[in-house]
This record gives sequence, C-alpha cells and structure tokens, in this order.
Amino acid sequence: MNTLILYGSQYGTTKRYAEKFAEMTGLPVAGYEDIKNLTGYDRLIYFGGLYAGGVKGLKNTVKKLSPDAKLVIVTVGLADVRDEKNIANIRNSLKKQVPEHFLKTSPVFHLRGGIDYRKLTFPHKVMMTLLYNKVKSLPEDKRTAEDRALIETFQTKADFVDYALLKQIAETIS
Ligand SMILES: Cc1cc2nc3c(=O)[nH]c(=O)nc-3n(C[C@H](O)[C@H](O)[C@H](O)COP(=O)(O)O)c2cc1C
Repeated sequence: MNTLILYGSQYGTTKRYAEKFAEMTGLPVAGYEDIKNLTGYDRLIYFGGLYAGGVKGLKNTVKKLSPDAKLVIVTVGLADVRDEKNIANIRNSLKKQVPEHFLKTSPVFHLRGGIDYRKLTFPHKVMMTLLYNKVKSLPEDKRTAEDRALIETFQTKADFVDYALLKQIAETIS
C-alpha cells in the first residue's frame, strides 16, 4: 500500500507527532501545504491540530485524495481526549470536513498537544483571551473539557505530547 503521512500544524506539536510516527513506521511525511497532488497514494494518515473544532488543513487535503483511497485521521488538541463529550464534538465537526464515504471507513484517533502563549499570533492571543473571559464566568458544571483545558493553560506553556499513544495507531494500520 502506497501510504503518506501528512500534517497540518501551526505551532509544531502536531508536526512532532507526525514526524515521530514517520520515524516509527518508516513512512514518508510532509506538511499538507507542501503536497499539491495526492493521486498515486492509496492511504493517507492525516495528523491535524484542532482549531475551533476544525482539523487544520484536512478539508482541502481530502479533496485531493482519490475516492477509493483509505484515510486515517489523527487529531491533536488541548482538551482532554479521555472526555467523551470532547470526542463526540470532534467527530461531529469532522462530518463537516470530510465526505461521508471516507468517514464511514476512516479510523479516527485523538491526541493531546500543547500550547505556548508566548508563541501565539496576535489574532490567536486575542481569540484565546476573549474565549477565556467567556468560559471563566461559566459555572464549573457547565464547562466543557475544552473550557477546562483553556482555563488550566491560559497564558502558560503546556506540553501534553505523549508519543506512547502512537504505538496503538501504528498497530492499527500495520
Ligand atoms: C486559536 C486556537 C484555537 C484552538 N481550538 C482548539 C479546539 O477547538 N479544541 C482543542 O482541543 N484545542 C484547540 N486549540 C489548541 C490546539 O489544538 C493545540 O494547541 C494543538 O497542540 C495545536 O497544534 P499545533 O501545535 O500543531 O499547531 C486551539 C488553539 C488555538 C491557538
């Protein structure tokens, strides 16, 4: 099977996961912006950072994939990936980014990334501050896993990258 690993990463945590996965599996890896053509690949393993629920670069990349290719999706976000509601939200938003015929057969995995507020772009800092002020005023029992992660990590540097979780993904695709 001709397989490619692609990643959509703004601040590098997703890239770290994808490159580690390439090292573990011996598969080629690239950033989604660097690949113009995906014909000739019959399996794509896509690692994407979560931005406001969407997976960076996934929607446009999938458009380049041949319809009978296999797609494996790995999301990387800040919120706790053991939280069922968080997973349900991510999977729901995947429906808006990936055509149904791919999603029906796509294994989907969820990993935790990190954040370093010193490195955020100005618009992202503004966005996170507005969001923080909004969720901070919510009663604790109304806060989602995303809200909790935002509050816990606001204005700090947090790194939840755990390569051990890649082993399970490698086993599933081998
Ligand atoms: C503007 C912005 C929006 C984000 N939205 C989400 C989100 O919806 N869900 C989530 O779990 N994490 C969210 N995050 C956290 C990122 O997914 C996390 O930092 C991830 O590790 C980023 O990957 P990257 O370093 O490869 O860009 C957001 C971060 C920023 C800066």
